[in-house]
Amino acid sequence: MADEVLSMFQQAAAEKEIDTSKKLKFGIIGTGWIAESHIIELKKMPDVEIVAGADLIPGKAEKFFKTWGVEGARCYPDHKSMIDNEELDAVCVCTYNKTHKECTVYALEHGIHVLCEKPMSVTTEEALEMIEAEKKSGKILTIGFQPRMDANMKKIKEIVESGELGKIYYIQTGGGRRRGIPCSTFIEEKTAGIGAMGDIGCYSLDMVLNAIGYPKPLTISGYKSAYFGTNPKVLSEYDANRFSVEDFAAAFVRLEGDIILDFRIAWAMNINTPGDTVILGTEGGLRIPSTDCWNGTVGGPMTIYKQVAGSQVEFEIPLCRNEGDAAKGLFYAKLRSFIDAINNGGTAPVPTSQIFYNQAIIDGIVKSAECGHEITLDLPDIK
Ligand SMILES: NC(=O)c1ccc[n+]([C@@H]2O[C@H](COP(=O)([O-])OP(=O)(O)OC[C@H]3O[C@@H](n4cnc5c(N)ncnc54)[C@H](O)[C@@H]3O)[C@@H](O)[C@H]2O)c1
Repeated sequence: MADEVLSMFQQAAAEKEIDTSKKLKFGIIGTGWIAESHIIELKKMPDVEIVAGADLIPGKAEKFFKTWGVEGARCYPDHKSMIDNEELDAVCVCTYNKTHKECTVYALEHGIHVLCEKPMSVTTEEALEMIEAEKKSGKILTIGFQPRMDANMKKIKEIVESGELGKIYYIQTGGGRRRGIPCSTFIEEKTAGIGAMGDIGCYSLDMVLNAIGYPKPLTISGYKSAYFGTNPKVLSEYDANRFSVEDFAAAFVRLEGDIILDFRIAWAMNINTPGDTVILGTEGGLRIPSTDCWNGTVGGPMTIYKQVAGSQVEFEIPLCRNEGDAAKGLFYAKLRSFIDAINNGGTAPVPTSQIFYNQAIIDGIVKSAECGHEITLDLPDIK
């Protein structure tokens, strides 16, 4: 009720002015499921012209543009032929994880700005190659983490940066679903490379690592399993047979600055949620409620725990309302922030210098799980 009354006094935000004198020529690489969200938002941008698309599956790009009413977009059988034959300013890499690196690097080598879908890649080595190509090209490479645009995610970072929690020393994060395995190209090693970690685990990591300034991961003891995805009582026999990634992962990660990260993620498990995200500091603690279907959304009002004048107190941070571009949707804001950075000579809204460590943790979990013991990461500083 109080919110409704207050909102009567709020001024409507002025519509952002967009210069339409030059239109950026966009191409879409991979015209599957997530490309739909990209084309829906790109069509709303008056300074963008969608000129081409590519997909490995014959006829898929043609059908995609027909469905979304983008007449005249030229279609190609792969990213190379599209990039070789078009004069593009920017591409959205909407392919499955295993081809993120080759599509991104090829586009950057041809002087094209790139928005690459999350996760950045499958391996640390691939992520490094992408960064190398980015640096050489001088073009923007941003990674598609739309939860970053959410006012609640920004609030978590503001709370940590306010100093109210003191020195952060322990973080518990992750999430998951009791049953929620996406039976698409996500479940096969040959296309996705990684499972629940690449789908939803990367969001949990980004939520907390972004808040604390992305310290470098130093050591990882990781675990992964696939007890549900490979079980024909959980998935159909067809899907259980092709399931070749992890449906659960957990890790104990040491971060630079004497911080412990305790992480777990699940596409399927025998419980409703593996718990809320918790950030513990010397002066306060923050609880961020999870959701039953974790996909990078803050699940409800957050709680801060502190000691004040000798008393243990708690207070609630109400959920924040999105404003500006984010009020038009997080996906809109993700695309808009990329386009604005290109037009204004800005930097990547979600930079690889940060997401590199997100990817390195995921890859570190895989490598530690495979060898069965803790591993030391020796990662470069990325500027
Ligand atoms: N940001 C989000 O909310 C979100 C949500 C879902 C998926 N994703 C990410 O988007 C990516 C794609 O997921 P999806 O569900 O759309 O997969 P999908 O399998 O539906 O589509 C991927 C398409 O890419 C095509 N492709 C692969 N390599 C190609 C190449 N070299 N050239 C041209 N086409 C190529 C495939 O043929 C396929 O049609 C994944 O990395 C996933 O993690 C992000």
